[in-house]
Amino acid sequence: QELLHGALPGAEVLVVSNREPYIHNRQGDEIVVQRPASGLVSALEPIMRACGGTWVAHGSGSADRETVDANGRIRVPEGTPAYTLRRVWISDAEQDGYYYGFANEGLWPLCHIVFVRPSFRADDWRAYREINQRFADAVVAESRTEDPVVLVQDYHFALVPKMIRQQLPKATIIAFWHIPWPNAETFSICPWRREIIEGMLGSTIFGFHTQFHCNNFVECVDRFVESRIDREVQAVSLGGHETRIRAYPISIEWPPSALGSVPARDKCRADVLKDFGLAAGTKLIVGIERFDYTKGIPDRMKAIDALLTRDPSWKGRLAFIQVAAPTRSKLDTYSSLQSEAKSLADAINTRHRDGQAPIHLVARHYESTDVFKLFRAADVCGVSSLHDGMNLVAKEFVSSRDDNAGVLVLSSFTGASRELSEALIVNPYDTEELAAAIKRAMTMPLEEQVERMKLMRQQVRENNVYRWAGTMLVDAARSRTRERILGLT
Ligand code: G6P
Repeated sequence: QELLHGALPGAEVLVVSNREPYIHNRQGDEIVVQRPASGLVSALEPIMRACGGTWVAHGSGSADRETVDANGRIRVPEGTPAYTLRRVWISDAEQDGYYYGFANEGLWPLCHIVFVRPSFRADDWRAYREINQRFADAVVAESRTEDPVVLVQDYHFALVPKMIRQQLPKATIIAFWHIPWPNAETFSICPWRREIIEGMLGSTIFGFHTQFHCNNFVECVDRFVESRIDREVQAVSLGGHETRIRAYPISIEWPPSALGSVPARDKCRADVLKDFGLAAGTKLIVGIERFDYTKGIPDRMKAIDALLTRDPSWKGRLAFIQVAAPTRSKLDTYSSLQSEAKSLADAINTRHRDGQAPIHLVARHYESTDVFKLFRAADVCGVSSLHDGMNLVAKEFVSSRDDNAGVLVLSSFTGASRELSEALIVNPYDTEELAAAIKRAMTMPLEEQVERMKLMRQQVRENNVYRWAGTMLVDAARSRTRERILGLT
């Protein structure tokens, strides 16, 4: 946290993201506050609480408009206000084009290698551009100085860096892409590939989770934009402006603040067994994420199926609890995934039920204390994403295990697998391999669990989210100083 405060003393910090950190919803006479299931929000929220400033985001809750002032502003969190949330309003039709359409039917499948065909429609692109402009204008309106530090988040806002740069040429714009970046051949199918890259190059620094994604991005710049690339320092110059491309592996708060109110392992385990009606001694495997086709939820169920088919002695002795928060359900790819997963769970349970069912699919949002409770109760946490920029669930599981026990089974197609090499790393497309890893995890001797978990905990503790943000801000501070002494501004 010191790194954060020391990096840019006195600078004004603004964050731009689609998802807001606090959503106000009306339930009868009451207004309830909800926290979204978003890795991005859980990473940035502790940073904003530490830095203060303004967070510009889409006002999406049913009571959001009632809780802000005339300018769309509200101080958050309630009770201990630390920063300003400035809400931007988006109509349903705009949301269909910008969010469901271009962002989630175009860019999301384009960037993830999951073989869902991206759809590109001119109307969606128009809405995407308009909403990007609206957010850029909100940042400019909120900014009190001519050289603020603006943190632009994710694939919803590829065009925002350039749009801000046009109005605030002295701003330090650090943009971060929270999902993977594909290779040039894949990216080339996007009809607006040049505009997207040029929009991104309005930033001072553009960050990705891994070096691999940085390399892919630089290849795309090389192929689709006329610019000068300095590969040694990974910098791109376009129209006299330079952007540095950097890998910043995102992480979590350490220790996570929600852990403070979570009971110790034995109590968590007893509660979870009771809640799900499971026998004492049941091996618990957990999976927790948004109900998204990139997460490999059916693949994990198929591995449990394979395991029980191969080794029926596990029937009645294991339970796989899958919590999946429904998301983007308006899109066919998401709603059909939900029904596919439900029927798969039913079929597997019919096949392998022995006293108790092996699969427990809970299709709803869990608050973070309940998530941590489940992590603490688990013998195994399964992260089988087919493709994932980082995956913070893996890191949160590790952070919850202060008993140093528990085994992480982790897909090799997550950014997290580069850092958590002591997990059981698997290819989730290989059902037999995944099944074997789950079995190995359930039977791993405690000493080995402890050895592996300690190393992973050390890795996440040292490379926590403050370091992620701190490193970006230090790099930003250096580029501000460099520009000043070189007399570029
Ligand atoms: C991913 C994206 C985030 C997004 C989150 C939740 O982590 O990178 O930008 O907020 O998913 O998705 P949603 O569409 O519900 O905001």
